[in-house]
Amino acid sequence: MSGINYSEKIPNNVNLVNDRTLQRALEHWQPHFLDWWKGMGPSDFQGADVYLRTAISVDAQGWAHYGVTKMPDYRWGIFLADPQAERKIGFGDQMGQPVWQQVPGEYRSTLRRLIVTQGDTEPASVEQQRLLGHTCPSLYDLRNLFQINVEEGRHLWAMVYLLHAYFGRDGREEAEELLARHSGDADKPRILTTFNEPISDWLSLFCFTYFTDRDGKYQLKSLAESAFDPLSRTCRFMLTEEAHHMFVGETGLGRVTKRTLEVMKEIGTDDPAKVRAAGAVDLPTLQKYINFWCSSSLDLFGNEISSNSAANFANGLKGRPDETQYEDHVLRAATFKMATPSGTEDVPMLNALNEVMRESYLKDCEIGLKRWNRQIERAGHAFRLTLPSSRFRRTIGTWAGQPVDPQGKMLSKEEYEKRLYEWIPSASDRAFVHSLMQKVATPGKIAGWVAPPDRGINNLPVEYEYVKLH
Ligand SMILES: [Fe+2]
Ligand SMILES: [Fe+2]
Repeated sequence: MSGINYSEKIPNNVNLVNDRTLQRALEHWQPHFLDWWKGMGPSDFQGADVYLRTAISVDAQGWAHYGVTKMPDYRWGIFLADPQAERKIGFGDQMGQPVWQQVPGEYRSTLRRLIVTQGDTEPASVEQQRLLGHTCPSLYDLRNLFQINVEEGRHLWAMVYLLHAYFGRDGREEAEELLARHSGDADKPRILTTFNEPISDWLSLFCFTYFTDRDGKYQLKSLAESAFDPLSRTCRFMLTEEAHHMFVGETGLGRVTKRTLEVMKEIGTDDPAKVRAAGAVDLPTLQKYINFWCSSSLDLFGNEISSNSAANFANGLKGRPDETQYEDHVLRAATFKMATPSGTEDVPMLNALNEVMRESYLKDCEIGLKRWNRQIERAGHAFRLTLPSSRFRRTIGTWAGQPVDPQGKMLSKEEYEKRLYEWIPSASDRAFVHSLMQKVATPGKIAGWVAPPDRGINNLPVEYEYVKLH
């Protein structure tokens, strides 16, 4: 296990002290990051005392320290998972050869692009969520939001480290740009569309952390397979932190479902208007939010048929999540039956890897739905939550712009447009959800639209004052 040196300005386990040039470059970027955090991070809570976990080692047993800190004092650092001795490339045309400790010249711009695209999502999500603190349903939830925010900030550090350490001047320029683009900005938006959607209510946050952070998990898993070893090690440690973000989404949506079912029982009806009048999120509205965020996140996997993904795999830059679960790691002979609007096509497997990833992502998404549907079934209701078809509301790939309903059925354009807000939140659905968002900041108290969590953080009680506001 490699410990982390906290006596330095930038906590790290990459021996920064032995590379003065790199250390100076990162220490030069550090105040820019802090300015960004203060300007674009959680608004109005910089002085609050927050119960946060901080990475202190990369050891699977006990990598985190919990304590109270103000967010600007969080120790953002650079932590790579321990190297695996004699690690070999696990897929693609160079399979079996030693992994790379430096960037091969021919892959330099592609690798830089992959790292920048991943890096861009991290601060983007902090920006998307910056106003949410004002409407927190409880101090427990507020703390979880801030935990996610500081860790997304650390994920930015993780990518900026790679840019500075391995990409010279281009990398340093990209690191500055990562702070210059902003979510939803008209002139300099974030790179990916989903990360420009505002997240202005907590139902959206729970959907985002369930669906979009899970896309993050899949991207990190595929980069963790990379032949570029520093990228692999960086992503492996990021996945440890990422798990909590998806936990917030899964338990958040479970708690919303639980509360809705309680309210339905109290008022003796599942009539959505009455459920709303009683201050809970009716299940059809929950379904619409799921449809919105799931379909938006599905676009993040990219084109169904992609020569980039083929090249990235063949060259060893980006594998499939959990590459070892597959038998064929070269894929030169395999094909994939791809459904397109004009029928099924046989596509070389290498060109279908975005779709392969999208399919395994959707399977992972099903797990939460099964759990929430069990709650609904146990409460005696016939309603079931479902995932939208991967063809629904796509803006990228072969299904982009196709009038398809959430079941995957092709409709006429007119019917699709007429019915779209039966499937995703309308302005009035959003206004209703917003009307529920009232700040609850008394220890142990919780908003009426969401059930309390089953347990607190790090064995503390749910009533613990996770955020002390001043
Ligand atoms: Fe992240
Ligand atoms: Fe995340």
